[in-house]
Amino acid sequence: MVTKKKQHADIEGRLSNTNSLIPAILSRRSVRVYEQRPLSEEDLEKINQIQNSVMPLFPKYIFSNDMQTREKKQNIVEILGAYGHIISPPYYFVPSIHGKSYPLIDLGFRMQQIAVGLWSIGIGSCFIGCLSREAKVRQLFMIPPEDRIAAFLVFGYPARSNGIQSLIEIGKFAKGNSGRKKIEEVFFYDDFNSPGLPPTSLEKILECAQAAPSAVNAQPWRFLLRNKKLFLYVNCKPKQFLLPENDDYCFHDGGTCLANIFMAANSLGIKMYWEFIDHMSDNRNLPKKEFLVPLVEIIIKN
Ligand SMILES: Cc1cc2nc3c(=O)[nH]c(=O)nc-3n(C[C@H](O)[C@H](O)[C@H](O)COP(=O)(O)O)c2cc1C
Repeated sequence: MVTKKKQHADIEGRLSNTNSLIPAILSRRSVRVYEQRPLSEEDLEKINQIQNSVMPLFPKYIFSNDMQTREKKQNIVEILGAYGHIISPPYYFVPSIHGKSYPLIDLGFRMQQIAVGLWSIGIGSCFIGCLSREAKVRQLFMIPPEDRIAAFLVFGYPARSNGIQSLIEIGKFAKGNSGRKKIEEVFFYDDFNSPGLPPTSLEKILECAQAAPSAVNAQPWRFLLRNKKLFLYVNCKPKQFLLPENDDYCFHDGGTCLANIFMAANSLGIKMYWEFIDHMSDNRNLPKKEFLVPLVEIIIKN
């Protein structure tokens, strides 16, 4: 059965500080060293607002995002896996979702809005993947067996920062060295044999799309422009030596990329519509390539 979900990118007014989102999207980087001091009451209130303004991809999916404070006696290694040895975040979110098709895309989509929102108010964060330990993590946090959790989002004040301005400056510098693929490696015309530079009208949006975080910086997103429609695919080729256990991160990170696209479009006042693709039964006759899964058709209104 073809299950197409039509969504209208009507996010105007629902995301806070939309004007400042593009610098925040472009400059955000993962923060792995935190100050141990607690967040101020004012920032906690802002985080609450950011959480409440998150836009769902599939509104019917049940999303839960408990905020946890790291207690001294808590075994952070048990929770975060090996990263618990090197990261000591004062706070972390435990995001999980219940939904039928593509729940991980929605999870990445929602959590990236939160990550960018936090960055825009001077709070750093880092996703810590847990797909390989999903069953264990469900048990630890009493998450129902049918719900999905792909990554924690750890957060707090970055060590040695002087607030939002310095975060954005550090981020700009860091992005230059963050090993992002060239746009010609991920953007194609008509099929996957014709890489190229995107039209000027899409440049900013795709720059934001590419700034999304991804597990092991795999940057699974691929963009195909065909008949004036933009298709987002993800590369789900398992990275055997880095992610032996599960290649589902491609879906989560398709979601982080999609979140950047829609936050950018909203900030730029560009109207878009999108339609999810059921790749098993889609009849659009889309170009195929091994390991590439088409996720979304994006229609941009001029
Ligand atoms: C789903 C997911 C899981 C991640 N897991 C980890 C992790 O376990 N440890 C870590 O240090 N970074 C992790 N990251 C952060 C990525 O390494 C980071 O996003 C990527 O290298 C790009 O760098 P940037 O976020 O600074 O732009 C993860 C990111 C995502 C989206």
